[in-house]
Amino acid sequence: MSLHPLLRDKRVLVLCGAGGVGKTTTAAALGVAAARAGRRVLVLTIDPARRLAEAMGLPAGGAEPTTVPAERLRQGDATATPGQLDVWMLDPGIIFERMVRRMSPTPEAARTILEHRFYGFLSGLVAGVQEYAAAEALDAFLHEGRYELIILDTPPSRNALDFLEAPGRLSRFLDDRVVSLFGLDSGGGRGGGLWRKATQLVSGVLGSVFGDSFVGDLRSFVSAFSGLFAGIRLHTERLRARLSSPEAAFLLVTSPEAAALEEAAFFRKTLTEQGLPFAGYVLNRSWARDEELPTPEALLRHVPGDDAARTGVEALSRLAQWERERAGEHRRLLARLAERLPTGAVAVAAPEVGGELEDFAGLTRLGEALGAPAVR
Ligand SMILES: Nc1ncnc2c1ncn2[C@@H]1O[C@H](COP(=O)(O)OP(=O)(O)OP(=O)(O)O)[C@@H](O)[C@H]1O
Ligand SMILES: [Mg+2]
Repeated sequence: MSLHPLLRDKRVLVLCGAGGVGKTTTAAALGVAAARAGRRVLVLTIDPARRLAEAMGLPAGGAEPTTVPAERLRQGDATATPGQLDVWMLDPGIIFERMVRRMSPTPEAARTILEHRFYGFLSGLVAGVQEYAAAEALDAFLHEGRYELIILDTPPSRNALDFLEAPGRLSRFLDDRVVSLFGLDSGGGRGGGLWRKATQLVSGVLGSVFGDSFVGDLRSFVSAFSGLFAGIRLHTERLRARLSSPEAAFLLVTSPEAAALEEAAFFRKTLTEQGLPFAGYVLNRSWARDEELPTPEALLRHVPGDDAARTGVEALSRLAQWERERAGEHRRLLARLAERLPTGAVAVAAPEVGGELEDFAGLTRLGEALGAPAVR
């Protein structure tokens, strides 16, 4: 099995899994593989390890995606015709600001929000702002159509899929509680004398505690922000529809450890519940790909009869046996993951590559191990 069909056909790949299993590394390696196969790819990454960022030539806090130089993608093969690989580290601050500018009805309205003294508090105030940033960035790039494939790395959290809910929470927070508090929801519904009295009371209390200018500022901020709700809702619905469609695929990354496998099972259940397309497993840092290793007895057959050599090889063969058993265990694990997969889903092993990930060539090899066209 190979991820090749996903890399070739999908528009979005989302990688989820337990902390530290290799989501970010896999996202990068798959990006390299897809770009080397000719596609225009964007990897949206979260907090890559320093060495990985260096291998990709990724600056911290860049306002725009960074393009990996084409020579690097070619890896010494002058005849190769790679597509493009861009990488961007998700920065909620930058994304949020861009979202405000894009969705505000006028540039002045955007300025009112961004320069407002409350703007800086917003992310602390509303749960899910960070997740919202991921959703917003993904939606914006998908909509813009600059990339043929976008690979989204997710944070090490059981709530990684919350990014789909975050926009709703964000708009609900400001919409229901705050906006109506100021009587700004002109849509009525909740209007009426009683409600008006309540809002007057709240304004009065806030004003007497914090001063009238505070209330005025709060009102202007909420009013400006409420202008964005329609856009936020539209984007949320659009993104959910895209991520539920066959153009998207969710891959679960796991290591062979029990805790990571349990987490993957949790994510699989969540995906099914949410109607999102589960596309399979990446069993990372595994030895499952190795071909059947020779038995120690077979090795000993090649050793000359001399005692010293035999004793030495016998001692080493215990290590070889241990290695064989581990490979067998990982192969059985991979076979178990491959059972009862939905149509089109795959279970692939990514080899443990040790220190090789320090440079781009290592990443390329890992990408090839995952995304090469299937030989069988
Ligand atoms: N196949 C592999 N072979 C060897 N080392 C690996 C492999 N995959 C990942 N690693 C190493 O494991 C560490 C964690 O990887 P990575 O940062 O990709 O995990 P992550 O799931 O994104 O972590 P987090 O949940 O913290 O975001 C890194 O040091 C990385 O180099
Ligand atoms: Mg990561």
